[in-house]
Amino acid sequence: MSAEPTFTAPRGMRDFYPADMTVRQAIFKAWADAARSAGFDAYDACVVESLDLLKRKGGEEIVDQIYCFKDKSDRDLALRAEMTPSLARMVAARQNELVFPLKWYTIAQCFRYERMSRGRKREHYQWNLDIIGEKSLLAEAEVIATALDALRRLGLGDAVCVRINNRALLAELLEKTGVQRDHHAATFLALDKRGKIDDDALRTLLRDSGLAPDAVDAAFRLLQVQTLDEAEALLGGPTPASQALRELFALLALFGCAEAIRFDISVIRGLGYYTGIVFEGFDAGKTLRALFGGGRYDNLLGDIGGRTETAVGLGFGDVVVAELLADRGLLPATAESRDFAVGYMTEDQRSVAIAITHALRRQDKRVDLGLHAEKPKNFFARSGKGGVARAIYIGPDDVARGTVRIKNLADRSETETSIASLTAPSP
Ligand code: HAM
Repeated sequence: MSAEPTFTAPRGMRDFYPADMTVRQAIFKAWADAARSAGFDAYDACVVESLDLLKRKGGEEIVDQIYCFKDKSDRDLALRAEMTPSLARMVAARQNELVFPLKWYTIAQCFRYERMSRGRKREHYQWNLDIIGEKSLLAEAEVIATALDALRRLGLGDAVCVRINNRALLAELLEKTGVQRDHHAATFLALDKRGKIDDDALRTLLRDSGLAPDAVDAAFRLLQVQTLDEAEALLGGPTPASQALRELFALLALFGCAEAIRFDISVIRGLGYYTGIVFEGFDAGKTLRALFGGGRYDNLLGDIGGRTETAVGLGFGDVVVAELLADRGLLPATAESRDFAVGYMTEDQRSVAIAITHALRRQDKRVDLGLHAEKPKNFFARSGKGGVARAIYIGPDDVARGTVRIKNLADRSETETSIASLTAPSP
């Protein structure tokens, strides 16, 4: 009877066994390749942040989810729940030296004390793409097109839909229904909870945000709007906010993304700092939670003590995309992670095995050297389990002859090569 393990990972925290790392690395590679292909520079920041930076205005769910603690000097610290405040802090610290617009990306480990559900864990990796200091809607188009490019690289090019809205459009519509501007921020955060809490609880939230009962009804009706034409009809014609959306759709069509985008008035986002275009990427059938989300945020830099600067960005987590890959049968198989396995029969052949291994590694080959003498049956059983391209097994006769056989494990073919040529220093 096997004993119960004493320790397991804390709930919601994640271990990555080698097979899990294959998936994670494939996702990270698609992210980094897409970001580099679009000219984003990599950056990183500390995982532990000051709690004050992360705690912002009320109403945001994320603030209640922060893992916080005191260090031994009684400082209030926290594990980052998202990267954007740290990015703003870094940019504000060098605002006079940095060249704008800047395009930065990172893959950040984030922690949120969330209620666990499909697609939500307490620890996740989040790819962030941000463009700071550029007003043009081409900045929105760039980050959305780059996210779609990463999905294409993972084989999910046709599997997603980006739902796009503009908080400025919602503001115009709310104003039209008599909701004053100073109630908008709270109204956005409340409306974002639609579908996550029941409608009665939402009505209470909206009333707590300062909306009169008829304004609450009007806010509910707004979320029924299906098209930009309908929104414009309610506003009495095109407005700057509706035109911005139309321009963004036209720009994204130029990137070949027309099929993957749509207007969705219910996309509002749960973070307070967004001021303009907001968007979320979902699997096409919307069976899973959001793959990524982002938008335009104009005040965050100013709010944390920097000079006010416009910015646009997105966060794209590793959890939901891995589920989508699994649902579609697209999880990457364990790649061949070794070019060679080298084994030997007795300790007498060990120095030759090491010499061959060393020479191959100098040629940048990935070589798994047997760490003890073993029978050929054991060596080939081990190296034949996958992940190895070719195997070299050395016995006393091989050393006497001065040659070894290199076995291709895929087609079982063999070639004979002299030990001298294998161990000769590379030119
Ligand atoms: P967010 O919508 O809170 O935005 O998170 C972005 C993405 O991170 C989500 O769409 C999801 O893929 C992933 N994610 C978030 N929480 C979890 C979780 N508990 N478990 C698994 N995945 C999760 C932000 O964080 C913004 N700071 C993004 C941004 C960057 N906006 C501008 N720049």
